[in-house]
Amino acid sequence: MKILVTGGAGFIGGNFAHYMTNTYPNDNIVVLDALTYAGNLETLEPIMNKPNFKFVKGDIRDREFIYKLFDEEKFDVVVNFAAESHVDRSIENPGIFVETNVMGVQVLLDASLKYNVKRYHQVSTDEVYGDLPLDRKDLMFTEKTPLHTSSPYSASKASADLLTLAYYRTYKLPVTISRCSNNYGPYHFPEKLIPLMISRALANESLPVYGKGENVRDWLHVHDHCTAIDLIIRKGKEGEVYNIGGHNERTNLEVVKTILKQLGKSEDLIHFVTDRPGHDLRYAIDPTKIETELGWKPVYNFDTGIKQTIDWYLNNKSWWENIISGEYQEYYAKMYKNRQ
Ligand code: NAD
Ligand code: TYD
Repeated sequence: MKILVTGGAGFIGGNFAHYMTNTYPNDNIVVLDALTYAGNLETLEPIMNKPNFKFVKGDIRDREFIYKLFDEEKFDVVVNFAAESHVDRSIENPGIFVETNVMGVQVLLDASLKYNVKRYHQVSTDEVYGDLPLDRKDLMFTEKTPLHTSSPYSASKASADLLTLAYYRTYKLPVTISRCSNNYGPYHFPEKLIPLMISRALANESLPVYGKGENVRDWLHVHDHCTAIDLIIRKGKEGEVYNIGGHNERTNLEVVKTILKQLGKSEDLIHFVTDRPGHDLRYAIDPTKIETELGWKPVYNFDTGIKQTIDWYLNNKSWWENIISGEYQEYYAKMYKNRQ
């Protein structure tokens, strides 16, 4: 099988490329990535020279380039991770989210149709369902929960889901969609909560917690997201949506305190800052469908996964220190200056 992994120099796509290249030596994995601020070739360094792996630099919005690549490579499967992925950036600059997350997806859908791809898999997010109240622990997102988005990021991802399902219904393109909860693990860009807090705590810098830190996210180790997508592209039913999550709800404050405890740092580093506009209160995934229909099970719970992740950041300092040395400093100053 030849599999195109778009956005494979990013966090989840990079982990997926490692997983697939190492698990299936007889499959060919091609990563396509535009190498935006979030893409990093160092993430792919451990697999770059494997015989079943290839990297191509390119933009999913570039129709001519994408058609030529599909024509030459004759992919069996396309797994699309390429996206603008940070909610805070979408609040600052929504336009690029529509261009990449919606228009880019349309180019990939057209190319998949034109070149007879056997499965197009769209990597979506639980954020398309909006949020749940903090005081209703009985409520969780199922695949039937209506789409109800809050941020320009989640709105762009929901649009892509609808377009993907339209290509199934109208043109019979064989598609699947997965909607996963918040991921954490190795190679996570340090603008997102967990790696941001780890890198700042190690430097004894203040930890900016939005609002009161009471918002809840449902954390899944990236390895378990990768095994779920692998199962869906092999055994999932065309035209179907699968939720992915492992029942690991934590408030942001609990997450930050867990990190501080493992690093032996003081809770005095915690600094409550102005809340994110439109901040979703709680996400919680009901993964019954993927568990019962496809037999998926996560291997990590939050306690084992966060420990492994913190150890990874301690043992791979050069990976993230390179990132936070350049432009990233300007990003942090700009995004957090009005939050104090
Ligand atoms: P990321 O920001 O770390 O990586 C995105 C990658 O896409 C980067 O390598 C970037 O260079 C590439 N990219 C961006 N625009 C591109 C373009 N126009 N053409 C080609 N490549 C482009 O994101 P991530 O956290 O790895 O998320 C990957 C996917 O998973 C996204 O679609 C996201 O919506 C979804 N998702 C993420 C989470 C999470 O917790 N991070 C949870 C559920 C779903
Ligand atoms: P994030 O990692 O940006 O993921 P998402 O917004 O997609 O869930 O944020 C996770 C949670 O952490 C979210 O409730 C916002 C909060 N947060 C902070 O409190 N401080 C921060 O500096 C960041 C980046 C996030």
